[in-house]
Amino acid sequence: MKTLVIGTGGREHALALALSRDPSVTEVHAAPGNPGIEQVATLHEVDPLDGAAVADLAVALAADLVVVGPEAPLVAGVADAVRARGIAVFGPSGEAARLEGSKAFAKQVMAAAEVPTAMAHVCTTPEEVAAALDAFGPPYVVKDDGLAAGKGVVVTDDRQEALDHAAGCERVVVEEYLDGPEVSLFALCSYSEESGATVVPLQPAQDFKRAYDDDAGPNTGGMGAYTPLPWAPDDLVEEVTQRVLQPTVDEMAQRGSPFSGLLYAGLALTSRGLRVVEFNARFGDPETQALMALLLSPLGPLLHGAATGTLDQVPAPRWRDGAAVTVVVAAEGYPASPRKGDVIHGVEEADALEGVDVIHAGTARNADGELVTAGGRVLAVTASGADLAEARRRAYEAVDLIRIDGGFSRRDIAAKAAGA
Ligand code: AMP
Ligand code: GLY
Repeated sequence: MKTLVIGTGGREHALALALSRDPSVTEVHAAPGNPGIEQVATLHEVDPLDGAAVADLAVALAADLVVVGPEAPLVAGVADAVRARGIAVFGPSGEAARLEGSKAFAKQVMAAAEVPTAMAHVCTTPEEVAAALDAFGPPYVVKDDGLAAGKGVVVTDDRQEALDHAAGCERVVVEEYLDGPEVSLFALCSYSEESGATVVPLQPAQDFKRAYDDDAGPNTGGMGAYTPLPWAPDDLVEEVTQRVLQPTVDEMAQRGSPFSGLLYAGLALTSRGLRVVEFNARFGDPETQALMALLLSPLGPLLHGAATGTLDQVPAPRWRDGAAVTVVVAAEGYPASPRKGDVIHGVEEADALEGVDVIHAGTARNADGELVTAGGRVLAVTASGADLAEARRRAYEAVDLIRIDGGFSRRDIAAKAAGA
């Protein structure tokens, strides 16, 4: 199977790496990729947002499977453009990707499917925002309706800050605050006329959204992750499948926009039960890096089955025993204004450690061929081990070998779950 991965980030590196280790995958291509992906794939210079260009490349390569990683091309309809040329593509249509592209749309779908989520008001004027804030009370949760790369959500006790955030957005969702631990549960989804909507959940993971230790600082795309969750209830995956994933994909199919690809349920386990915080229409980053480190099944057939509506015929994913931890190394100034061009040292030494993969997220080569920072999240250092404590130890040993001027990591990823 010839594969083409679209994107530049850590998620795409982790997926390309897993595909390169799958014996049924003969070729891995990526566009535009990054220096880490280049070690496992042939890179092509194509704008990931240009559906026609991506489709042309897929045709030229005679790709059997295109995997669209990030949300922006999905929402822009890149998967549709590839599918229209008769090539299997892992990733939802632009219409189905609205589950991520519009928080108001996601709320409508959840209401219709009776999926538990935070109560919310969609607001377009400052008066509506003020009324909604006062109806729910603090802590205030204000979300930009559209895609915002992890920066669209403000959770604050400061009413003025909530109002100011809303003022910068065209349309916002103001919602009730959800307490309790967060879980990311991903499901492979496929659809066919004969079998309807199939969901195959992966192992639960947890993401660390705030920039600094002890969940201080601004929201980010995610500073680290681990899987599995030793503290989670045994029936969590089953409950989420029955109450969230299956009703959502059934509702999408009923609306005539079936969802295929990866449905990411961001969940809060509140004192009043399970609630959906958000949906994403693609693999999460950096949870995917940790999940891929433990995936025992070959990735290609799972993605191909989802892409072609035959997921119900593919053996369910199997997972290694043990645990995996991903620690993000971020650039100086992330998330507000990450600095680019700083030289990255120590990646090879770190990558050589047992059980460690140094996944590239925002890296590039400078004119001298040196590896430099090119994005806010620079590396996603991923380690597996017999348990969370071992995976954590290995991940931080690797992180400590990496040096970037002004670079930083959280030191508490998976600490609580590992009993550290
Ligand atoms: P979202 O983009 O909707 O996932 O929001 C980003 C992050 O903001 C989430 O992962 C949560 O940590 C936080 N958040 C979002 N919605 C809520 C909510 N209703 N209550 C508490 N925290 C939230
Ligand atoms: N880790 C959060 C996300 O991928 O949106």
